[in-house]
Amino acid sequence: MGYISNEVAEEILQRIDIVQLISEYVLLKKQGKNYFGLCPFHQEDTPSFSVAPDKQIFYCFGCNVGGNAYKFLMLKEGLSYPEAVRLLGHRVGINIPESSGSYDSDKQKKEKRLYKILEAAANFFHQYLLYHKGETARNYLNKRGISEQQIKTFQLGYAPAGWNNLIEFLTSKGCNLGELEKLGLVIKNRQGTGYYDRFRNRIILPICDAAGRIVGFGGRALDNSNPKYLNTPETHLFNKRHLLYGLHLARKAIRESGYALVMEGYMDVIAAHQFGISNAVASLGTALTREQVKLLKRYTNEIVISYDADAAGVNAALRGLDIIQHMGCRVKVLQVPQGKDPDEYLRVNGAAKFKKLIKSAYGLIDYKLYAATQKGIPATAPEKIAVLQQVLPNLAAIKEPVEQEESIKRVASVLNVSWETVVSELKRYLNQSKNNVNKGNKWRNGDNFVKKSYNINLTNARYRAEYLLLGLILTDFELFSIVKKQITAEHFENIELKNIYSLLLDSEEATVNEPAKLVQKMDEKCQQVFCRLLNEKMPAENKENIIKDCINIIIKQAGKKQQEDLLRQLKEAERSGDQDRVKKLLQELQQLHHKINTGLP
Ligand code: CTP
Ligand code: MN
Repeated sequence: MGYISNEVAEEILQRIDIVQLISEYVLLKKQGKNYFGLCPFHQEDTPSFSVAPDKQIFYCFGCNVGGNAYKFLMLKEGLSYPEAVRLLGHRVGINIPESSGSYDSDKQKKEKRLYKILEAAANFFHQYLLYHKGETARNYLNKRGISEQQIKTFQLGYAPAGWNNLIEFLTSKGCNLGELEKLGLVIKNRQGTGYYDRFRNRIILPICDAAGRIVGFGGRALDNSNPKYLNTPETHLFNKRHLLYGLHLARKAIRESGYALVMEGYMDVIAAHQFGISNAVASLGTALTREQVKLLKRYTNEIVISYDADAAGVNAALRGLDIIQHMGCRVKVLQVPQGKDPDEYLRVNGAAKFKKLIKSAYGLIDYKLYAATQKGIPATAPEKIAVLQQVLPNLAAIKEPVEQEESIKRVASVLNVSWETVVSELKRYLNQSKNNVNKGNKWRNGDNFVKKSYNINLTNARYRAEYLLLGLILTDFELFSIVKKQITAEHFENIELKNIYSLLLDSEEATVNEPAKLVQKMDEKCQQVFCRLLNEKMPAENKENIIKDCINIIIKQAGKKQQEDLLRQLKEAERSGDQDRVKKLLQELQQLHHKINTGLP
């Protein structure tokens, strides 16, 4: 990535309205000074996502993410910082060339080069399919009904037979074999004397990351030979768990349709897109991973699984379900009629019928019930209990009472037990998990700090005072000039608050008034705290008095801490019989005592 100067990045920020930007993703409602909506980064029913228009900062009180417009795009679109700056720059008419200057570090340069090599390889395969001796391969794709358009869109290619076609091409372009090996394009021969092409006589399917950069390849045999698919091995750039085939092409449609269709294979996705179902991606033959769900969550909270209608497909679907629900997404499972995969189904029955299948997809619990009863309806008590155990966590996770009741009814009816039995099992399950939760983090949820903080006489008095003090400063910079005279960064005990305060002290007045710029200079933890402060509802009246209270508490507490420190040192000095030191420490203690009592800094 090219180097982007701070001035340019700040200039762009100044011209962007964060409320407008976020409104493209989240339904925001004005409430007081700020806007609120359902957080796009975690699943919730009541809005805890806040955007402060005057600060140009967002923050979620539920999951603690926060930042400026760049941060929002980075999280939501999975962009790097320079990519986010470039994108917003484009909106306001500030164009940043792809590599303005070459300030890239060596590591970045190397990485860029690796991506370039993969692109060159993909191009080689693609050209080969289209223009060279790719006729057999073209016929194969043709026979499978894959259109010219899809060949282009998915940049399909053909790796010719022979041991070193790609090697020759790429080395003639100046690539070295070490690089090619690192990318999984070539394999060292057994004697260790040379290399040969990994992909030979195969259809090539480039695999891209969410940003559309090629990171690896799948290669399909043209006949029944084994393995059917040969893929790039795990490399520095290629990690199957973190990738979804077709995501870069599906992003827009996923957002627009409100859900993502997750399929098993390359061919399913290509068929789906060909039939106008462009929100389809593939998990490449495995059960959906946590990382893959995370990728999808940038665009949607609803996932429809559409795996093959065989045992492997059902198992893979089942394994994905709980992960998806756990990560706060709604999930449905679509079942193509027995023996088919989406690719075959679409080509025989067309898009309209497939869309009907999507509409009639199973909900999570129904699918579990369906899968559990495939081999016969559970008849014995242990069999019924086993199924019940599987669905209880999912029943418990349903938030809407009506939906929950409906699901309970269906479970009861499928298992042929009474409604009451299911309910009482559910209650027991809920109680159990409630106990588990209570042991854990009380402190995290809905802890609207300032609401409680008027009652400052609590154990965390010092933290609360520090927090409130900083929060008030940020609403009104007149107050900052008062506080500055009495409080130094060293007075703060909480490390994040201390860092934020010292950044404020170091910044010019103009910058202090623009938190969206300031936030760029903080580490992740400080960003969170800072954004929270900026979205927090701070007291609007009587600010001077509150500030005075806070200052007193902070100084007193800081003094007490210092006192304890000195007392500890005094003890040591007495023990070691160092009379001079004892005397000095006693003096210091006396001064401190005086300071605390008079409230002077
Ligand atoms: N897969 C793989 N290696 C294999 C078999 C399968 O990597 N030897 C992955 C591929 O990503 C494949 C997916 O698992 O797309 C699903 O496998 P399968 O259903 O067998 O493949 P299809 O996509 O249906 O391919 P085709 O229609 O060409 O048989
Ligand atoms: Mn298949």
